[in-house]
Amino acid sequence: MAALRSLARADLKAILAIQQASPEAAQWSAEAWESFVRSTESAADEDLRAGYCAWVAERDGKVAGFLAGLFSGVEMEILNLAVSPGERRAGVASRLLEGALAAARSSGGERAFLEVRASNAEAIAFYERNGFLPAGRRKDYYATPVEDALVFAHALAADD
Ligand SMILES: CC(C)(COP(=O)(O)OP(=O)(O)OC[C@H]1O[C@@H](n2cnc3c(N)ncnc32)[C@H](O)[C@@H]1OP(=O)(O)O)[C@@H](O)C(=O)NCCC(=O)NCCS
Repeated sequence: MAALRSLARADLKAILAIQQASPEAAQWSAEAWESFVRSTESAADEDLRAGYCAWVAERDGKVAGFLAGLFSGVEMEILNLAVSPGERRAGVASRLLEGALAAARSSGGERAFLEVRASNAEAIAFYERNGFLPAGRRKDYYATPVEDALVFAHALAADD
């Protein structure tokens, strides 16, 4: 079972390596991650408030995956998610998603959503398996290569 905790500045090297090994993930620069981490530092897990939030999952003491989100107070948007290729299909992303949804729910969130490349069958299977439902399509949302995004959403009722 993967252990979940808030992402810390010291995780950035491991996260960049996982991101690089996961071309389907959003490819954020080291500088973008630095400023992302700065903006998460004021939000505690149990009380997300509105803003950026991120978690890592560890297996055997090593960072195996990460999830970055943006919580508006009502909606949690999953902005970036990846698991180290050697650690996939072991429940790491499910654990990350569960943590993010639970934090959003306990801070009054009503809905989670995300965009995913229409060709990313693995991620789509993962989100569907975790209760997300199709909620729309954004034409030519991605660049290099240009591709539509599928939008998936998950209601966060308190008794979900
Ligand atoms: C999508 C991703 C995050 C899933 O991570 P993971 O840790 O392997 O996911 P889990 O082990 O929690 O998977 C849970 C379930 O999701 C589904 N799933 C996950 N990967 C799948 C795949 N490659 N093919 C089909 N179903 C898959 C399965 O139902 C799986 O349960 P099972 O293993 O019992 O069959 C991972 O494949 C990844 O990092 N991909 C590259 C980056 C990416 O696409 N990010 C999302 C961008 S929106």
